[in-house]
Amino acid sequence: MKYIFANFKLNPIPTHTLYPSIYKSSEAVTVVVFPPAVFIHKCIADGLAVGAQCGSSNTFGAFTGEVNMPLIKDSGCTYVLCGHSERRTLHHETNEDVALQVTAAVQAGLTPVICIGETLAERESGTTESVLQTQLNALEFNNDCIIAYEPVWAIGTGVTATTEQIHAVHAFLRQILATKNCNAVPLLYGGSVNANNAKEIVAIDGVDGALVGGASLKEDFAQIVAAC
Ligand code: PGA
Repeated sequence: MKYIFANFKLNPIPTHTLYPSIYKSSEAVTVVVFPPAVFIHKCIADGLAVGAQCGSSNTFGAFTGEVNMPLIKDSGCTYVLCGHSERRTLHHETNEDVALQVTAAVQAGLTPVICIGETLAERESGTTESVLQTQLNALEFNNDCIIAYEPVWAIGTGVTATTEQIHAVHAFLRQILATKNCNAVPLLYGGSVNANNAKEIVAIDGVDGALVGGASLKEDFAQIVAAC
C-alpha cells in the first residue's frame, strides 16, 4: 500500500473537472486530501479521505482562532499534519509544540502525519541526520502515525532531493524507528513531487508514498496517484 497525500495549503479546493475523482483511494493507494479547514466538510461530502493541515494541542477554552484535535476528529477527519515546515517557520512551532500536537492527535483518535526535515544550511553543514534525530526524539509516538521526510529546501522550490539523498535519509529514519519499535510506520517523501518525478520517487526503496503540495492542485495529480 502506498500513500499519496494532497496538501492544498492555503488554496481553494481544485476547480478542474477531475475533482473529486482523482483524489479517491484505491486498493493500491491511499489518497488523503488536506484542504483549508473550512473545506473539510465539503471534501468529506465529496467522498474523500480527509486530514487537517494543523491542529491545536489546547483543550477547549479561550483560544480564539484555534481548532483542536477532538474537533478535527468530530469533523470527520482521520489524519492531521503535525510540524509542517511552514508551521514551524511561519508560526514558530517548536519541536515541543509538535510533540504536544502529536500526543493530542493520537488521544483524539487521529493519525498524525509528522513532518520533519532539514534546512539547506543544515544540509550543507552536514547536520541533516542530527536535526532529524532531534526532531524525532522530541516526540512520543507509536506505529499509529505516519512520518513525512520533507527537506525544507525542496518544499515549493521545484528542487527535489535526489534519489540517493531520499534513500539515505529514509534508511537512516528506518534505523531510528527500529530502535523505537516503530517498524510499521509509513515513511513518505515530500518536496516538489510532481507528475514527472513521482514514479521514480515512490519506487525508491523505503519510500511508502508522497506528500504533495503544489502539484496536488492540478489535473496531472492523477499521474502521481497512478505512479504508485
Ligand atoms: P510542494 O509542497 O509539493 O509544493 O513542494 C510539499 C509540502 O509542503 O508538503
